[in-house]
Amino acid sequence: MANLIDRYNRHLNYLRISVTDRCNLRCIYCLPEEFLPMLSHSDILTYEEILRIVRIGVRLGISKVRVTGGEPLVRKGVCEFLRALSEIEGISDVSLTTNGVFLKDKIHEIRAAGVRRINISLDTLDREKFMRITRRDNFKEVWEGIEMAQESGFDPIKINVVALRGINDEELTDIAALSFSYPFHIRFIEHMPMGNSEFSIQNSDPPLLAPEIMTRISVLGKLNPVKNCVNDGPADRFRFEGAKGEVGVIRPLSHHFCYKCNRLRLTASGQLRACLLSDYQEDMKTPLRNGCSDEEVANIFLRAVRMKPLEHRLNSENAESISSPMSAIGG
Ligand code: 5AD
Ligand code: SF4
Repeated sequence: MANLIDRYNRHLNYLRISVTDRCNLRCIYCLPEEFLPMLSHSDILTYEEILRIVRIGVRLGISKVRVTGGEPLVRKGVCEFLRALSEIEGISDVSLTTNGVFLKDKIHEIRAAGVRRINISLDTLDREKFMRITRRDNFKEVWEGIEMAQESGFDPIKINVVALRGINDEELTDIAALSFSYPFHIRFIEHMPMGNSEFSIQNSDPPLLAPEIMTRISVLGKLNPVKNCVNDGPADRFRFEGAKGEVGVIRPLSHHFCYKCNRLRLTASGQLRACLLSDYQEDMKTPLRNGCSDEEVANIFLRAVRMKPLEHRLNSENAESISSPMSAIGG
């Protein structure tokens, strides 16, 4: 079968799977306080449906998957699902992105399911500020979850920090300093204005971009670049001299990394998206539920790949046109 190679010769071997649009937190840059889940149980793909899509994707060249949400750990049976994914022949890497609140209860199950790499979102080390950002009082659970993930041998543990001017800008240095004492990869992410979030609406300050983030954290010492590996994500990586871990910046705004994007996304409602930052999608759920063949599913993959845009337009005037919040697409 044909491989998933797009018009710009990008090899799409990485599928990010959102298993739910629900979340137990309400981050101000992602969801409104009064968010009601958009999808009912029957709207979201069953695990069996997702596994079928992945098996067909593998024949076309998918070899890595990441499970995201919303918050993936709020969906029942997610650990069994992770295990089933790991057991698919041709999948070499199953990873998980979580807000960390339920990690400590599930960490052993997650590891037993074959997951080795985990990304945890944490935008502050301060309990009060955590409440302001996520509108929930779960800092303690997240921190304990991170420590347990480390004790359980996950490697690497990536900590995602969205850089929010006026909220955590003064704290970025303290967060970066964690990389001296822990082997974590701390990744600062430029905030992407999407989904009409409270933060995007109320914050008219200029965005906090990578050069400023780097300047802020460089007071801690000399930052030595770390070479990117072939299958690395989009982060520019660095290590402070003598540090156990790394720091990195993900620069969707200040530096296009679209040219090397290897990702496709499957939303919880069964839409295949070729780009996080474009509303274009291909429906997989309806054909699946109408009993379509594997070949038809493969053709949907190929169609989405053919439509993958060269790059996003977040920096241009029509930036507001991305209407879906991250919780619906899976980050
Ligand atoms: N801009 C940048 N990062 C975001 N995330 C969620 N919304 C945004 C946004 N608007 C991050 C989360 C999580 C990852 C999946 O995406 O914090 O770490
Ligand atoms: Fe939940 Fe992640 Fe959105 Fe925060 S950013 S509300 S943790 S889905």
